[in-house]
Amino acid sequence: MINTMAASHAVNRTLYDPIFAANSACKAAILEHGKDKVTNATIGVVLNEDGKLSVMPTVEKIFRSMKMTEFTAYAALSGNADFIDAVKNIIFSHANYDGYFSAVATAGGTGAIHHAVANYAERGDAVLTSDWCWGNYKIICAETGKRIEYFKLFNDELTAFNVKDFADKVENLLTTQNSLLIILNTPAHNPTGYALSSDEWDNVIEILKAKATKDKKITLLVDIAYIDFAAEKSVAWSFFDKFGDLPANVLTLVSFSMSKSYALYGQRTGALAAFSPNQHVIKEFDDTNKYSCRAIWSNINNGAQVLCTKIFQDKNFTAELEQDQTKLRNMVKRRAEVFVDEAKNCGLKIVPYKGGFFIAVPAENPVAVCNELHKDLIYAVPLQYGIRFAACSTPLEKIPGVATKMKRAIEVSKNV
Ligand SMILES: Cc1ncc(COP(=O)(O)O)c(C=O)c1O
Repeated sequence: MINTMAASHAVNRTLYDPIFAANSACKAAILEHGKDKVTNATIGVVLNEDGKLSVMPTVEKIFRSMKMTEFTAYAALSGNADFIDAVKNIIFSHANYDGYFSAVATAGGTGAIHHAVANYAERGDAVLTSDWCWGNYKIICAETGKRIEYFKLFNDELTAFNVKDFADKVENLLTTQNSLLIILNTPAHNPTGYALSSDEWDNVIEILKAKATKDKKITLLVDIAYIDFAAEKSVAWSFFDKFGDLPANVLTLVSFSMSKSYALYGQRTGALAAFSPNQHVIKEFDDTNKYSCRAIWSNINNGAQVLCTKIFQDKNFTAELEQDQTKLRNMVKRRAEVFVDEAKNCGLKIVPYKGGFFIAVPAENPVAVCNELHKDLIYAVPLQYGIRFAACSTPLEKIPGVATKMKRAIEVSKNV
């Protein structure tokens, strides 16, 4: 009997998402024990202290004032001109850049990463990212016929960016590939909350310049999905002034998302932006990515583009949005501080957390540790190298005690 109809490249594609799996286990515990007794640190969105999804008041006010047709109209293929203008300004006002730049609208940051992988890595080639990373990078690579390889994000002491491993992996891959796409998620990295320091960025830039020799091309994709939860704007966006003197065979891409920065996850709107000293490379970026937009989604949510534009074009709205972002960022920061302080006091080792939604705890057997934590009705996400604790969604009152219990769970699971 024929029981597979999928094309050969699509056979056996099933999605296992540890985040949704952990969240389902948590929901079952809530049904059995009640919401108050369970700590749900699995969810990757900002929840208020009452457990409800956070909304930015400025976003709500403007959305509610918009005309029906602003939601229902088709948008332009590469994104509405004034939305693209807003995105370019939001990103490049921090870049102090006198080269060429452009952007296309995408289905959130995910769509931007998809376009970068689809159009800037050869089929069969490896895309390079860090070992601690968002699992979806691998899925996007597999879907588009690319491989993924990893460099170690941290040094052995888990104190800083592993510049050496980054340089070695770039060098190795460029011995067999003529081009390389690198994805760096910073600041407020998922799942660790890490952010490259200014010196670490300088090292990365030097490595890119050194390895992009005459016939080798490098594309760097900076995934800034969580940037407005990292720190105040002047700090979080400051690394953008680093890309000014990259050569023409290094292309810088940025994946911009409205999901976190506007708390607009479900509206699926973002952009892929590019900058290069070579005008032809930017013209090619526009053409290639417009083609991909047409093939994959035709065009992006008009309402969210109009909303972004309205906020950008009005200084008062821009200031109000920044206040909303600061409020949510500070709420998450307070929770993370409680966790990090307790971890320090009880001797729980965590990877360096600098800001953002998540804190990561290294562990040899993350699944066993998470199962042990379930006995305390604490639910976090087991990843390959450790446990992800979502400060973004865990109410402050539930955080004291979690780090201590995690330390105990790690010790117990070592003896299992
Ligand atoms: C590291 C990282 N990048 C990008 C995204 C994309 O998010 P969205 O497609 O909602 O913009 C996410 C979402 O969780 C993420 O964790």
